[in-house]
Amino acid sequence: MAVDERFARDFREARGDEPEGTRNEIVTGPVADWATDFSHTEPEWAADPYPIQDDLRQRCPIAHTPRFGGGWLPTRYADVAAIAYDTERFSSRSIIMSNFRPPRDVAPIGGSPPISSDPPFHHDARKLLLPAFTKKAVARQEPATRALCHSLIDAFDGQGVVDAARDYAQHIPMRVIAGMLGFPPADGPQFRQFVENTLEGINLPPDERITRMSALFDYLLAQIHDHIDNPREDLTTFLINAELYGRKLEPSHVAGTMALLLIAGIDTTWSAIGASLWHLARVPADRERLAAEPALLPTALEEFLRAYAPVTMARLVKQDMQWHGADMKADDWILLSFPAANRDPAQFERAAEVVIDRQVNRHAAFGLGIHRCVGSHLARMELRVALDVWLSRIPAFTLADPSMVTWSTGQIRGPRTLPLRLG
Ligand code: HEM
Repeated sequence: MAVDERFARDFREARGDEPEGTRNEIVTGPVADWATDFSHTEPEWAADPYPIQDDLRQRCPIAHTPRFGGGWLPTRYADVAAIAYDTERFSSRSIIMSNFRPPRDVAPIGGSPPISSDPPFHHDARKLLLPAFTKKAVARQEPATRALCHSLIDAFDGQGVVDAARDYAQHIPMRVIAGMLGFPPADGPQFRQFVENTLEGINLPPDERITRMSALFDYLLAQIHDHIDNPREDLTTFLINAELYGRKLEPSHVAGTMALLLIAGIDTTWSAIGASLWHLARVPADRERLAAEPALLPTALEEFLRAYAPVTMARLVKQDMQWHGADMKADDWILLSFPAANRDPAQFERAAEVVIDRQVNRHAAFGLGIHRCVGSHLARMELRVALDVWLSRIPAFTLADPSMVTWSTGQIRGPRTLPLRLG
């Protein structure tokens, strides 16, 4: 079979034209008690999850919900860490908590290796990616990222108010990862749709979700075809040619990893840049200090990552068990909140405050354990350059209208509308 036919066939399977698995009824609507009925898809959580998490940490550190077919929410750093490190009892076969659980036999590979993979496969799938994301490899992206940030600000063209989430933050990771994968820069707006469908469309009926996901896989298939016909120096060609255990990667592995890099690479960093600018727009003392002391930026951005950690992941319980007093059942979800862990006063002094010169800061924003973020050097570079260029060009800015700020819903949290008044 020709290599592109093999890709086409495997893609139809990967995107789940006839998905197996377990579906649960969709339950939405206000939460009466977050300890017994939590839902990270409600507007209250999107607007401000921290008071909810702080309250739970005090009175019910492992909360439960019957929604999504049943799940648990640990809010203490120690519990989040214990689960992240325990791949014996918690599986990554799905890391997005929704009403759909993929069948158990997708483990240990899952739909988007390595994030969906369990040991022992995980190690090998992850190792393939590491060379592309070293500090040295990332440094090569820095000049183009800096130039992009300047061009985005040039395009503000003297406007008094700009949407920093839409017109600045989102474009930076989109263009960088599109460049690394070898996708046309003009395709950026489509990526936004793919990201929203994957991460925010979790309460859609499963069939509709699958239809929308197909658009992503069709796009990736077209890119794979193009790269098979015109190989070039980028991550897509690398994945098509990569080998594991003496064989080329399965087409579903290539596509799943491309989807992961696209999704993981965009929404996360977009959120981190937006949340940092949101903070600086509200706290003039921090903004003025950072504008005057750019050398503090690497320390400050770790604090922004700790305090506004954008990423929450999920796990599935492998077998019925008692875990730290919780009566967990096989296939219960765990909503693994790195943001809640990062604000645990048992782990961080002045946990609820943003301390931009915090010296010791072993935060969990990039995860903990074997799945710790492969793209952390890239994310840090993008965040540092985005803030550095912004502050050097626009040292003074405030929220134009706090009531207009909107935040994404679901497991990746960051501003999606952020009108800032410049000057
Ligand atoms: C501020 C931005 C980012 C944050 C906060 C972040 C956070 C995370 C977290 C918490 C995990 C752990 C997942 C788990 O435990 O299930 C993770 C994994 C991962 N991230 Fe990131 N990420 C960011 C940016 C990026 C970028 C830019 C890329 C690359 C394009 C990337 C690629 C990945 C990959 C491939 C994994 C899976 C690693 C594995 O399973 O071994 N991330 N990220």
